[in-house]
Amino acid sequence: MLKERIENKKALVGVIGLGYVGLPLACAFARKGFRVVGIDRKKGRVDSVNRGESYIQDASSRELRGLVQNGLVRASTDYNNIRDCDVVQICVPTPVDENKVPNISYIVATSKKLSRVLHPDELVILKSTTFPMTTREVVLPILEKSGLKAGKDFFLAFSPERVDPGNKKYAIGNTPVVVGGIDETSTELAYLLYEKVVGKVKKVSSSEAAEFTKLLENTFRNVNIALVNEFALLADRMGINIWEVIDAAATKPFGFMPFYPGPGVGGHCIPIDPYYLSWKAKEYDFHTNFIEISAETNEGMPYYVVNTVISALSNTGICPKNASVLIIGVTFKRDVSDMRDSPSLKIIRALEDKVSKISYSDPFVEKINLRDSTYRALPLNEKTLKQFDCTLITTDHSSYDYDFIVRNSRLVIDTRNATKKVKEGREKIVLLGGGIFSNRR
Ligand SMILES: NC(=O)c1ccc[n+]([C@@H]2O[C@H](COP(=O)([O-])OP(=O)(O)OC[C@H]3O[C@@H](n4cnc5c(N)ncnc54)[C@H](O)[C@@H]3O)[C@@H](O)[C@H]2O)c1
Repeated sequence: MLKERIENKKALVGVIGLGYVGLPLACAFARKGFRVVGIDRKKGRVDSVNRGESYIQDASSRELRGLVQNGLVRASTDYNNIRDCDVVQICVPTPVDENKVPNISYIVATSKKLSRVLHPDELVILKSTTFPMTTREVVLPILEKSGLKAGKDFFLAFSPERVDPGNKKYAIGNTPVVVGGIDETSTELAYLLYEKVVGKVKKVSSSEAAEFTKLLENTFRNVNIALVNEFALLADRMGINIWEVIDAAATKPFGFMPFYPGPGVGGHCIPIDPYYLSWKAKEYDFHTNFIEISAETNEGMPYYVVNTVISALSNTGICPKNASVLIIGVTFKRDVSDMRDSPSLKIIRALEDKVSKISYSDPFVEKINLRDSTYRALPLNEKTLKQFDCTLITTDHSSYDYDFIVRNSRLVIDTRNATKKVKEGREKIVLLGGGIFSNRR
């Protein structure tokens, strides 16, 4: 029986998609004693896992090697290797296209392949973020092409992934998980499974409620970042420092949660997931106004940063057309290597025809390929900093010495308040949200 195999950890667990979500998830299950088979369509990733070499920051190679050597983790490109799995978790990408329309083709392709190796008494859990109804209306009918009946022969649930890359406090093992199945048995089985691996599991009444939960969480973040970004733009005009205001508001012990402005939102979640909901909502004659307004603000931030750079250069007497800009930190957030949807990419593209030279420095990124150009990281030293007219901080990696950066730069545009502790040379710093466009100053 599947229930017993889960309870005594004899269940063989499959993970499809060994990326930022799938690989740490595979390790988390193996760490708790489950045998795990990972599937990825990229042979390079599969070979790397089988050698015990991690390519994801949140999965350590040392641990992975041990798990592989102990026979707890193995990987393959071939779905036949998950034929014997009792549980399969789907962690494939869910991007949007250039018109912000959800692209669930990875979920569809995976479900089709899975349906060919599905067997009775198996639990399938979709973890990829997606719009409500995907599990029941997209995945379920494809899996039933196997000839097996959902809720009778196999079980199906949705459980959103909450991994926060680079978060040292909360990882998969100590972050509560939400589960919702297409029926009670599926919910119960998913609940039992995650109870073995994570501290707390919250059951909801349906796969739709679980899908919606993830979109509420990420839209909440997106909307609040947009709100604080809008306040930062206003603060710039009013000559008020928004960072000081947020710190002050954060002293309120209830009813307020601090969010911080920045050059825009990035990664595979916050700028994308809300569009899954706004797209689906239209089917119900419903327009998700908060999502649209937030997108307008957040997606405008990189262009605001570019305008700030141009006016700061002009104010210091440098013609922007002849100026050189060094971008510091290009990943979408601090201390991670993920470049997906990073606002820095938009900033570089928008700056390309406005200044004479752009370069970047980032300890996590060796090279950036844009449509027409390739950039290679420069070392962050005195010689590099002194070569440029302007230093633009777009990601506040914690390894940077901000005193050193300010000391050796001519002009610093700080979009993250990374230089807040810098005492000397403050006159060179232009802080986003620092009241920079006030004519009162
Ligand atoms: N990255 C995050 O921080 C995060 C957090 C929570 C939720 N999510 C969600 O989790 C899902 C996965 O995101 P990710 O960041 O891990 O993506 P990713 O691109 O890092 O990894 C996905 C992996 O799936 C593989 N893949 C694609 N199609 C496949 C197929 N048909 N068969 C086998 N393998 C296939 C890819 O090769 C890739 O290795 C997305 O829905 C995302 O929104 C991501």
